[in-house]
Amino acid sequence: MQIFMDSASVKMIRDAVQHGLIDGVTTNPSLIAKEGADFREVVEEICRIVPGPVSVEVVGKTYEEMMAEGREIAKIADNVVVKIPMLKQGLRAVRDLSSEGIRVNVTLVFSATQGLLAAKAGATFVSPFIGRLDDYAHVGMDVVRDLVAIYRTYNLAAQVLAASIRHPRHVVEAALVGAHVVTVPPPVLEQLVKHPLTDVGLERFLADWQKVPQGIFGLPR
Ligand code: E4P
Repeated sequence: MQIFMDSASVKMIRDAVQHGLIDGVTTNPSLIAKEGADFREVVEEICRIVPGPVSVEVVGKTYEEMMAEGREIAKIADNVVVKIPMLKQGLRAVRDLSSEGIRVNVTLVFSATQGLLAAKAGATFVSPFIGRLDDYAHVGMDVVRDLVAIYRTYNLAAQVLAASIRHPRHVVEAALVGAHVVTVPPPVLEQLVKHPLTDVGLERFLADWQKVPQGIFGLPR
């Protein structure tokens, strides 16, 4: 399973890439607005840093607006993926942008029927929002599981990108049900790396090591 970072913070993305933690990035208008910088500059910088796909969302709601914005966004970099909201006119844009060779991520997916239509329209990635469904007392992960099974049964090329991830357990469950990608916000990415028992264990090992008189490779302590 690939791991993307759900953020538009150049600083945090750079750090995650340096440590080899992420395979791509997803952004959305809220995340980009939070950075308070020029849209194009932020996107160009992220695309330079990240070795994999970078999803960037359109903000127009008509077919014509989505097509125009999508084509412009696609020109920013080779690794850019155009994010289109799950709307009827959005599906038309997905079909037409995909047929022009532009990769599309269909966002704001909340049901398996929406995800099926997005894949049939030609989406490269389809993003069910797990946490937001959980907030409404649904089991968000059920949509991920259903879409993985449906795409496999019908040999659809779309990849299920589990989004709106709130905690590490979501990541584990997404992996268990076969999601192709999970996109995690920076705090959750940190949580994936850390475990208190690792810190306690390391402290104990290093304290014990102080008792060994010769140190390691004769290096000063
Ligand atoms: C995905 O591409 C979205 O940017 C994101 O996962 C939304 O998550 P949220 O529900 O935490 O805003």
